Amino acid sequence: MSYTYEYFQKSADYVKSIVPYTPEVALVLGSCLGPFADTIEDPIVIDYKDIPNFLISTVDSHAGKLIFGTVAGKKVVCMSGRFHSYEGYDFEQLVIPVRLFKLLGVKATILTNAAGAVNESYRPGDIMIVKDHIKLAGHSPLRGPNVDEFGPRFFDVTNMYTPALRKLAKDCAEGIDLKVHEGVYYFFTGPQFETPAEIRAVRILGADAVGMSTVTEALTAAHCGMPLMCLSVMTNMAAGVLDRPLTNDEVDETAKTIATRFSAYVTKIIGRIGEVEL
Ligand code: HPA
Repeated sequence: MSYTYEYFQKSADYVKSIVPYTPEVALVLGSCLGPFADTIEDPIVIDYKDIPNFLISTVDSHAGKLIFGTVAGKKVVCMSGRFHSYEGYDFEQLVIPVRLFKLLGVKATILTNAAGAVNESYRPGDIMIVKDHIKLAGHSPLRGPNVDEFGPRFFDVTNMYTPALRKLAKDCAEGIDLKVHEGVYYFFTGPQFETPAEIRAVRILGADAVGMSTVTEALTAAHCGMPLMCLSVMTNMAAGVLDRPLTNDEVDETAKTIATRFSAYVTKIIGRIGEVEL
């Protein structure tokens, strides 16, 4: 399937007919980081299924709602529930959410995700500010006819995780009850967790954390020149680091344990985002 600019405009027109303001910041909530959505003031909630040309979440821990409202005095739009290629979506479909943000006039996007820690100095519950990623498997979401209104065919991704936003995330980490690192996110297509041999291999390649999301959204943001921050929550040590199998319960448990502190951290960042020239 190839998309036209008008295809994305149809989603944006619907949303604009419901929401009477332009959100400044967009947030994508990763698995089990949903509780942040409860902190949004004066929420306007739109079900994904009601948005023309949008997608539908199929993962239990992803709610499937677009929530508009106020956080730390800023107007935000928050995706509670995201889309992954392992759900069966084509990579090309995964441009849809960030292109909606762009058409809504959002100034910056914050992506969050749950990830496995490859770096053995990290611990479950730590946060990693993504400074770069590695994606050696799976297509680019920008594959197919280029939609020139969003960006050029060939585009630079040298600083796609916007340095000034990474600095803000680091500054906001001062004095909070979370350990915050900066590192490289390695994308696996999933849905299986990785093998211990894969984890050993990607550690050699420079990965600090692994996950099954985010890079498609990040590449879409880079293509349309959208300033971007990404925060990964280390929900578990990656496969083979500890001498036991991985379970999704472990991922959910850690996410639950840090949800409140993580929400407070993200709220602090949103409150100070005006300090960054975007
Ligand atoms: N691997 C891939 N994705 C993940 C992991 C992991 O260990 N933990 C949370 N999401």
